[in-house]
Amino acid sequence: MYKIAVIPGDGTGPEVVREGLKVLEAASKKFGFKYETINYDFGGVRYLKTGETLPDSAIAELKTMSAIYLGAIGHPDVKPGILETGILLKLRFSLDQYINLRPVKLYNSDFCPLKDKKEEDVDFVVVRENSEGLYKGMGEFKHKGTKDEIAIQISYNTRRGVERCIRYAFEYCKKRNKTKKLTLCGKTNVLTFAWDLWQRTFDEVAKDFPDITTDYAHVDATTMWFVKNPEWFDVIVTDNMFGDIITDLAAMIQGGMGIAAGGNINPQGVSMFEPIGGSAPKYTGKNVINPLAAICAMAMLLEQIGEEKAAKAVEDSVIKIVKTKLKSLAAGKMGYSTTEVGDLVVKNL
Ligand code: IPM
Ligand code: MN
Repeated sequence: MYKIAVIPGDGTGPEVVREGLKVLEAASKKFGFKYETINYDFGGVRYLKTGETLPDSAIAELKTMSAIYLGAIGHPDVKPGILETGILLKLRFSLDQYINLRPVKLYNSDFCPLKDKKEEDVDFVVVRENSEGLYKGMGEFKHKGTKDEIAIQISYNTRRGVERCIRYAFEYCKKRNKTKKLTLCGKTNVLTFAWDLWQRTFDEVAKDFPDITTDYAHVDATTMWFVKNPEWFDVIVTDNMFGDIITDLAAMIQGGMGIAAGGNINPQGVSMFEPIGGSAPKYTGKNVINPLAAICAMAMLLEQIGEEKAAKAVEDSVIKIVKTKLKSLAAGKMGYSTTEVGDLVVKNL
């Protein structure tokens, strides 16, 4: 009996989560596994009402779950930073979800903004470090509010933190078994402390994986190659900030935020799965948002808890409707409503 914590969150989060749960229910019937869901109302609405973001008691509870399914965090009436750090980053950090896994796969070349790229050209995975770097929140103001003000934001990289991420990426690349190429995406030419540590660690860990080809790309060049030659990539490993930036670009070349899913993984603990698109306030409550990113996040969740067959079936079902039904992957342009898209996935399943 799996215990799935559900955090629908803000904006369109609840609408897409509803479709993901519909698919979970169908998958459980088809593949014969049992689960219960436990709902949590963390998000902007609760914060505006109570001033509370994420109580420590919830963290303790979440640690007992099989997985967490998250919709979106972010509310137009709450100052930027409060919910993101108070809920999303707090979850990632306190559950030590040190990997942010972002598969980037184009399911239908009609929805790719790149000219002449086929489905097989956009098929790679970004392994983003998810617990350190600039996201650590270290830094300070000096002379705040004066003309001499200085704001310092520190990128914090530990050997242990870097190594466990890189090791995960090598293992993942081996298991994925595609071209067996792992690219380190960094900035060794300028950020000479952090990326020296990353490069050295990468080279050392590589010795344990002789069958994996290694490569290096600067982060700026990586963005260029995503547009020019995405087919060069198999698995990419990078730090928290660069990973955040390149995976938004990567989402666009796979067809947009409507299809992009991610996992916050603690390989030894509780992982959390989410569509990466955010709360999309302007589409909230209109039944127009694309739920496929959330459904793909559910597929990732199923794989993580050990229901690989169900995960594959859900992904195949998504691929089928993306190839044969949807007019677009963008909100309001799919040719179907949010609930209808969820129904199509269930029907194919
Ligand atoms: C993401 C998001 C978050 C991040 C925000 C909402 C804090 O952009 O998951 O990529 O920066 O990690
Ligand atoms: Mn992001």
